[in-house]
Amino acid sequence: MPTYTVTIATGSQWFAGTDDYIYITLVGTEMCSERTLLDKPLYNDFERGAVDSYDVKVVENLGDIELVKIEKKKYWFQDDWYCRYITVKTPTGDYIEFPCFRWLVDDKEVSLRDGKARLPQDETTRTAKQHRRKELETRQKLFRWKEWHPGFPMSIDAKAHRDLPRDIQFDSEKGVDFVLNYSKAIENLCVNQFMHMFQTSWKDLADFEQIFMRIKNTISEYVMEHWKEDFMFGYQFLNGCNPVVLEKCHKIPDKFPVTNEMVKDCLERDMTLEEEVEAGNIYIADYEVMDGVTPNGTDPCTLQYLAAPICLLYRSIRNRIMPLAIQLHQVPGEDNPIFLPSDDEYDWLLAKIWVRSSDFHVHQTVTHLLRTHLISEVFGIAMFRQLPAVHPVYKLLIPHIRFTIAINTKAREQLICECGLFDKANGTGGGGHVELVQRAMKNFKYKTLLFPEGIKARGVESQEELPFYFYRDDGMKVWEMVKSFVADIVAIYYDSDETLQKDEEIQAFVKDVCSFGMQDFDYCEFPKALKTREELTEYLTIVIFSASAQHAAVNFGQYDWCSWIPNAPSTMRKPTPTKKGQANVEYVMESLPDRGRSCWHLGAVWALSQFQDDELFLGMYPDEHFIEKPVKTAMENFRKKLAEFSRVVKARNEGKKLPYYYLSPDRIPNSVAV
Ligand code: FE2
Repeated sequence: MPTYTVTIATGSQWFAGTDDYIYITLVGTEMCSERTLLDKPLYNDFERGAVDSYDVKVVENLGDIELVKIEKKKYWFQDDWYCRYITVKTPTGDYIEFPCFRWLVDDKEVSLRDGKARLPQDETTRTAKQHRRKELETRQKLFRWKEWHPGFPMSIDAKAHRDLPRDIQFDSEKGVDFVLNYSKAIENLCVNQFMHMFQTSWKDLADFEQIFMRIKNTISEYVMEHWKEDFMFGYQFLNGCNPVVLEKCHKIPDKFPVTNEMVKDCLERDMTLEEEVEAGNIYIADYEVMDGVTPNGTDPCTLQYLAAPICLLYRSIRNRIMPLAIQLHQVPGEDNPIFLPSDDEYDWLLAKIWVRSSDFHVHQTVTHLLRTHLISEVFGIAMFRQLPAVHPVYKLLIPHIRFTIAINTKAREQLICECGLFDKANGTGGGGHVELVQRAMKNFKYKTLLFPEGIKARGVESQEELPFYFYRDDGMKVWEMVKSFVADIVAIYYDSDETLQKDEEIQAFVKDVCSFGMQDFDYCEFPKALKTREELTEYLTIVIFSASAQHAAVNFGQYDWCSWIPNAPSTMRKPTPTKKGQANVEYVMESLPDRGRSCWHLGAVWALSQFQDDELFLGMYPDEHFIEKPVKTAMENFRKKLAEFSRVVKARNEGKKLPYYYLSPDRIPNSVAV
């Protein structure tokens, strides 16, 4: 009697093992095996982390094995099971791998294809074609689009994390509970005693040290010591946690009437302001998107304030980016003065604080939430809806959307929902953050997700002009590495552009992203189809880069740059000054977050800057969805390049007071998960 030996690997995460009955059926091209119960007497099968082998006896040879069907049936109570993979040894001694990496919940049945990645047009048998179609039909019922707010990219149709398909949930609900993480943060930071002190101001700036002493690191301490200095203010536009706002200024805008007279003492090259603009030495940061956003707070006691500043900056002879002038609102006028470094100390300091606060809002809501979290979710949902597990692009992308839909769902459940944690300490809480995303969507262009294009569009590509722009330089390196890896994978599966054009599944994926995920907003200019392999390579590079590097660059510096509260106030409690001479130390302290809000903010930036315990960094693919040798070689090359670059970054940072490490590959998680 021919015997097939099946080996089954159970996951090693918590609760991955099961006591339920597991049945297997091998579906061959000639015939099927009996539905066989996998059970060893006196042995506890399918324990967490176990690899168990069983014999499946058949009457006749099955032919080529097309599918492996596994079923789970209740024993005592439903006991979920995570299956990593199955290998089948045939009577002739061949080994066939069947990647699974899925949860089996309830009385679920899963049919697995072998690990060879295939395009839809390459399927030859009816069983294979049908399997592909059925898998997508099932997934499309599970992964439905839903508009969370009008004008937003679409998100998953699920009210709570527990409603999500088990496969995309966090391993434990605890790991992602924002309320719990906040409490943990508050405890670690030892700030409990100030938590409830809303509307009580700190007395002076040094007072913030009371909540800052517990967890310090090189950067946050440096920020505390130097945050008032102009060079530090300017430096953050290049290498802080929102390094995407600064633009080359080609003309002083009419709405920001800075004159040569105002700034001439700051210019170092013996040129007028106009000549400096001409020479390319003037930069601008414009927070126009903040204009008119509704601030948090409903009554005079809790009312908070927002601004929409414009800041002019100068590249000094020493290549530092120094602020030249700040106007706090968009419409020029007498009650909207242009603040200058030559103003009184507190006038200028308060103007800079307002810019930092506005930058915090734009960072949190636009740079971070919209452009990494929400966009990654769109790619993730479309992938589940349109690409079966046997598609090479599914295999490529799945590690890069791990936990993303889960973290966003949890955020919508606890953090950025109505009366969520975000409202506690943020000037854009209570709905302002929603308006901000809606406005930012109007300027959201697919093209700007291409990292090099985004840099060029802001006119900051020249290394000669901006030699210390590590975000740009490291970002370009990582972008190129990701792109070259993606190009290798694309080349393995697509031998011509026609092959890509004929791949209906990939075309449906791209179409779903554009038409549903991005709601067919024409101004976003997302492609509706992909014609060339180069276009596909760019597209997939965007998906992977946005989820990994871009998110890391704007997420993991939050504690470094925002824990010293005056450097990144999450809210402002007094209106912007309408004339010079209005600000003094009391005015500044009454404007800055109170004790209670400071603690909430600190807890948030600490919790959001933590890596996960089992973090998978860029290029780490422990789940082997691919079995093909050339793919493994491409992955190996990718990892080698990444490791080499991590060493370069480490050497560059050695001994630096302000190291830049957010884009060091060994600190870039594969996906958006926090
Ligand atoms: Fe994040």
